[in-house]
Order: sequence, then C-alpha cells, then structure tokens
Amino acid sequence: MIRVWQGDITTLKVDAIVNAANETLLGGGGVDGAIHRAAGPGLLAECRRIGGCPTGEARITGGHDLPARHVIHTVGPVWRGGDADEDALLASAYRNSLQLARDHGLTSIAFPAISTGVYGFPPDRAARIAVTTIAEHGDDLDVTLVAYDDKAAAILADALP
Ligand code: AR6
Repeated sequence: MIRVWQGDITTLKVDAIVNAANETLLGGGGVDGAIHRAAGPGLLAECRRIGGCPTGEARITGGHDLPARHVIHTVGPVWRGGDADEDALLASAYRNSLQLARDHGLTSIAFPAISTGVYGFPPDRAARIAVTTIAEHGDDLDVTLVAYDDKAAAILADALP
C-alpha cells in the first residue's frame, strides 16, 4: 500500500522513517538535519559507529528520541544531468531501504522525497521512480511518501497509479 502524506517526517510514528543522508552518515541539512535534531545525539553516535554508506545503499539505526522505532539512512544520487546512472541509483536507494525494513521485520515505512532537495533531482522524475520501485519491491509493506510542501504533495499525488 502506498499513500502520500504532507508534513514533517520526524513526527511520524511508523516502524521506520527514511533519512535522505549523505555518504558520511554524519548529518547535514534538509531532512537529515531535521531527523538528527529530533532524534537527539544518540543517533549521531550510532551513525558514527556505522562508518558511512555508499550511494544507493541503506543502513538502519534506532529511532532514539523520535516517535519512529528506527531510522533507515539511505543515500540518493546527486543529479548530474541524467547520464550518470541517477535513475538506477535512486531506485536502488528505495529498493535497499524497503529490503532492510523487511529484513528487520518492519511493516510500516515513510520516505521523504530522496535527492529532490540539495541533491537537485527533478522532483517529478524522482516521484515516478519512487512509486514504480515501491510498487515492484514494497507491495507487502505499508509505505508513506512524505511531501514537505504543497508542490511536492501535488507531484507525488500525480505519480500514484
Ligand atoms: N520532513 C519531510 N521532508 C522534508 C523535511 C522534513 N522535516 N525537510 C526537508 N524535507 P534534502 P537530498 C524534504 O535536501 O536532496 C543533506 O544535507 C525537502 O523539501 O533533505 O537527498 C544530506 O546530509 C526535499 O523535498 O535531501 C545530504 O548531504 C526532500 O526532503 C543532502 O542533504 C529531500 O531534500 C541530501 O540531499
């Protein structure tokens, strides 16, 4: 099941929220900054022990002070014009996050619009990849796509089947 919800992902009480992280896993701006602020310093300490994550892969931690039980940190691609494997890497970020949730027995997961902020991926193209990948690889999970603003909500709603 896929639904679109508009708001701040850090408020969601789901099994896992996904973080649009960078390869260091040491925090940053955007949704990454918001998640680390809401989760508290224990999250950063746990991330330090993981030691990074390549683009397209995912790693899991506890949720610390968040209502969500876990954070799945994934790294989306930086948009470089479309000829640098960006589509496949974004699909892989979604697919690996879904698989990690399943491996840990989780059933509900919420994604931000990975790569569509600082990393510059065109949001409508990213939304289509998110929906297609979740339909193919996350059919058994309860998936929420989180839009931070009205424009993102409209783009995600358009991309739904
Ligand atoms: N809840 C839901 N969505 C949010 C929130 C929030 N609290 N805050 C922002 N968004 P971005 P990226 C949306 O830039 O493009 C970080 O510095 C935002 O509107 O957070 O994957 C990392 O450390 C946008 O639609 O992630 C990396 O260095 C979406 O989340 C880099 O940014 C993703 O925007 C990753 O860039």
